[in-house]
Amino acid sequence: MPVVVVDRVADAVPLARALVAGGLPAIELTLRTPVALDAMRAIAAEVPGILLGAGTVTTPAQAEAAVDAGARFLVSPGATPGLLAAMTATGVPFLPGTATVSEVLAVLEAGVTEMKFFPAEAAGGAPWLSSVASPVPAARFCPTGGITAASAPTYLALPNVGCVGGSWITPKDAVAAGDWDRVEQLAAQAARLGA
Ligand code: 3PG
Repeated sequence: MPVVVVDRVADAVPLARALVAGGLPAIELTLRTPVALDAMRAIAAEVPGILLGAGTVTTPAQAEAAVDAGARFLVSPGATPGLLAAMTATGVPFLPGTATVSEVLAVLEAGVTEMKFFPAEAAGGAPWLSSVASPVPAARFCPTGGITAASAPTYLALPNVGCVGGSWITPKDAVAAGDWDRVEQLAAQAARLGA
């Protein structure tokens, strides 16, 4: 899943179109820039067939604002009780973030079995996920953070990993240059990883 940072609203629609054309119809647009919500509204209005999600949701207010702007799922780097309650209240699917076994157990206690593992590489990577598969079999993960096209297959081979995410599919320089062909090629390469 592409983890996307948009600095200019004008980039949002061509970027989203390139990802869909490359075979990645689900995108996580991060709420890390002042234009993120406007970018989300533009994509929701102009790119049919996309499954648009909001990433970097760190406050209850952001969860609500993102859904109002057209997000159909939410992703958070963490999972405080307030954030879990707010994301649940939106009614859309969401991936809370976890990086320790206690956090995984807290998310499971809240009734959520699918979660983000972040920051994946820094927090233990594929060996960590492999180690928790047996003691905590109910949890399924979308690892993100430091993952590349080269390391993604190792993650995807794990029984408790449903997808991986990362920004390698939309490199800063390609987005800054409006190089949508390159983004489409990287998306196509990433789409083949899951085949
Ligand atoms: C995220 O929010 O999931 C990460 O920032 C993505 O990490 P990456 O930029 O290292 O791929």
